[in-house]
Formats: sequence, C-alpha cells, structure tokens
Amino acid sequence: MAPQSRPPSRMAPLGMLLGLLMAFCFTFCLSRQNEEFALTNPEKSSTKETERTETKAEEELDTEVLEVFHPTHEWQALGPGQAVPAGSHVRLNLQTGAKEVKLQYEDKFRNNLKGLKKGKRLDVNTNTYTSQDLKDALAKFKEGAEMESSKEDKARQAEVKRLFRPIEELKKDFDELNVVIETDMQIMVRLINKFNSSSSSLEEKIAALFDLEYYVHQMDNAQDLLSFGGLQVVINGLNSTEPAVKEYAAFVLGAAFSSNPRVQVEAVEGGALQKLLVILATEQPLAVKKKVLFALCSLLRHFPYAQQQFLKLGGLQVLRSLVQEKGTDVLAVRVVTLLYDLVTEKMFAEEEAELTQDTSPEKLQQYRRVHLLPGLREQGWCAITAHLLALPGHDAREKVLHTLGALLATCRDHYRQDPSLGRTLASLQAEYQALASAELQDGEDEGYFRDLLGSVESLLRELR
Ligand SMILES: *[C@@H]1O[C@H](CO)[C@@H](O)[C@H](O)[C@H]1NC(C)=O
Ligand SMILES: *[C@@H]1O[C@H](CO)[C@@H](O)[C@H](O)[C@H]1NC(C)=O
Repeated sequence: MAPQSRPPSRMAPLGMLLGLLMAFCFTFCLSRQNEEFALTNPEKSSTKETERTETKAEEELDTEVLEVFHPTHEWQALGPGQAVPAGSHVRLNLQTGAKEVKLQYEDKFRNNLKGLKKGKRLDVNTNTYTSQDLKDALAKFKEGAEMESSKEDKARQAEVKRLFRPIEELKKDFDELNVVIETDMQIMVRLINKFNSSSSSLEEKIAALFDLEYYVHQMDNAQDLLSFGGLQVVINGLNSTEPAVKEYAAFVLGAAFSSNPRVQVEAVEGGALQKLLVILATEQPLAVKKKVLFALCSLLRHFPYAQQQFLKLGGLQVLRSLVQEKGTDVLAVRVVTLLYDLVTEKMFAEEEAELTQDTSPEKLQQYRRVHLLPGLREQGWCAITAHLLALPGHDAREKVLHTLGALLATCRDHYRQDPSLGRTLASLQAEYQALASAELQDGEDEGYFRDLLGSVESLLRELR
C-alpha cells in the first residue's frame, strides 16, 4: 500500500500548530455505534481496486444534472457547490480555505446523520450501503436521465441525491450538532484511550479496536500510533484474558504491520512476536487464531529479522502443532501459504542480488541468516506438506501444490518415497485433466484447471 501523504502532519515545528489546524479532517463514516456490527463483521477488506473502477462508471454521469465530485485516493480541491459521495474523506485547508476530498478505503459508507445526537462525536447511525449499491444507483440514474422524466425517475434522482449530499449541507449539520471535528491522530488517541481505560466495557474496547483497524491501514497513521505509545497498548492487548480482545488486537496489528517496516521493527522490539506465538500455541477459539495468524504473517513478510527471531522462538513447531490440530484446515492452508511466501521471498532476494551484481547487500545478508529450509526439513514439514495435498477444495490444493514446488529441492527424497503423495498426485492429474478439457471446451484458453494440471504434472515429472 502506498503511503498516503498528509503533508500537514509532516511540517516543520512552526508549522506544526498550523498544520494541526489545517489537518482538521472530518470523515463521514467513522464510528460504528452498533457493537453487534463490530462483533459480527470482522472482515473488512480494502477495496481500492473496486473503488477505482467505480470512479470510471461515475464519470459518465451527467454532471449537468447533479454536480458530483469524484474523489480519488489523492487529496483534491473541492469546487463550490459540489456534492461529495458519502464516505469521502474531507478536510479543510485553513490556510487556503479550500476544501479537499479523497476516497476512503472501505466501501461501506455511512451517510445518514439523522441518528446524531447533540454533542456526540461521529457516532453515525450506520445506514450503510456498499459501493456496488452506489454503482447500481448511478447506473440507474444514468438510464433514468436518458429516458423521459417520469415519477420513477424522480425517485431515482432522489435516491442519488440522498447518497450525495452537498458539502455545505453536511458542514451545517456538523455545526448544528456541535460535532467535534477530529484529525486521524486525535481519533486514534481517543480510541486508544477508550481501549486502555479500565472503565470501558468489553464492548467499548472491542469497538475501539475495530475502529482503530480502519485507521492503521494508512502507513503514516500506523507510524503515528507508534509515536504516542498506542501500538504498545494494542500489543499488550494480546495478553488479555478475553478472547475477543486478543482477536481484535491482532486484527489491528495485522493491518498496522502490513508493509510498514518501522512498525514491524518496533513491534518485534515490543514483544509482539512472542505474544502472537503464545496465543497460537495455546488453546484458543478458531477466530482468535485466524486473526493472530494474520498478524503473524504480516509481521514476518518482507522482514528477515523477524523471520530469524521467529525461527529462534520455535515458530515452526508452533505452526506444526497448529496444522496438526483437527478442524483447522483453513489455518493449515494459510500456514502453507505463509511458508511458500517466506521461501520464495528469500529466493527472490538472492535472485535480485545476482541481477544487480550486488554481492553483499544488507538485506540479502539478513535473509541468509534465516535458515528456513533446513528447519522445515528437520521438523517434518516435508511429510506435513505432502499430506495436506489431500485437502478438498481447489484453492487449498493450489496453494499446497505451489508450496510443494517451492520445497522440492529440500524435500525431493521424501516426496519420492511417499507412496500416498504419488497416489494423490495421480488422482489429481486425472481429475484436473477432465476439468481442464471441459474448461477448454468452454473456450477458456488459459484456464484455472489447466494451470492446476500443469502444477500437478510438473511435480509428477520432478518426482519420477
Ligand atoms: C494506558 O494505561 C496505563 C495504565 O492505566 C497507563 O500507564 C498508560 O500510560 C496508558 N497508555 C496510553 C498510551 O495511554
Ligand atoms: C504478557 O504475557 C506474557 C506471557 O504470555 C508475559 O511474559 C508478559 O509479561 C505479559 N505482559 C504483560 C504486559 O502483561
């Protein structure tokens, strides 16, 4: 994820105060007041791609009819009288007086301010709609504009107007309701205080973590979290006796670590790795282990130092017990994917060094200290990975096949001597031959099953 630039918070000391003023960001889709929602909808995916394609669809909208601003992932100045889609991130630049808008990450926008009570912060009544709804509404609206004006069209226009409220109107609402406009930093401080406070209920703590996760996707937000000690508070949350706190703390950490080296380094220093492994090694609800494994993956990826520590702390043994537990197929597939990623990451580092003729880059030195493959062989991962190929589900098999390929040099002898692996491969070959030819008949030249068949057959060749 590319860093989101927020120049105001990166200003020189004199500018700092002004910068803070300038950065009065307010967002229309902040808090979920409904705790149930927080507890039952843990998986929020970043949908930058879908949003981007949607901007295109919106571009065709007749702007004469309704002046709609099309936010992108960069800050852009907003013209007078322009409407913004609910869910946009809006800030006031107090130096220029310009209003600036950009897209939020998530696709569930909350645009209904009716539930707002006086003096309350942005606890917006969550009348959510997805970007697909928005797209549909816009498509319908466009059709409608081309047709003759009818009652139905009016309803459609009203629908779109409901989705796009003019910025002035929103501002007035905020003013009237005495809503406090906060910067991302202020919001994170507030959420951390909520989570860290002994007077908060369990639900409030979980809700605070759930909201926090949304902010730390942004690289500089995650680093800001670090700067005021918030990251450590979340890491300590892994020690909670409440499974839900562990789960959502891991959820926040997974997002904060993701491709964010500074945060990854601090987290390892702050003991995150041990805590994550302890949770994985003990009896916990599956939901907790899933999130913790996710956090572990994002801590280890592209961070050879953490990988080294992981091996030292017995991480491979922990993962081995995890995949050998009953009823954890979903975790097993994720573990295998992680191993595949780590093995190939190291390989790429070697290849890159060779290509660039750089004989001793620091990063390569670090990767060379990660003795992953010997560890895998010694601890029985050749047998484990071979065994996992029996999992049902094409997606799981695809991942296992990739991992078998990546471990081939290390595990070849074992794989050759494993009669059940040979049988599984032969039966998969037959299965995927049939599926691939059906696929071909449907006119798919580069089919999914053909790829799977290719992986199976190349393994069979290598093991002959
Ligand atoms: C969290 O709470 C503890 C104990 O109440 C306090 O010492 C600590 O400073 C708080 N941390 C943050 C970042 O607010
Ligand atoms: C958290 O738990 C670990 C053991 O799991 C323990 O070593 C550590 O001291 C605990 N940390 C805190 C802040 O309670």
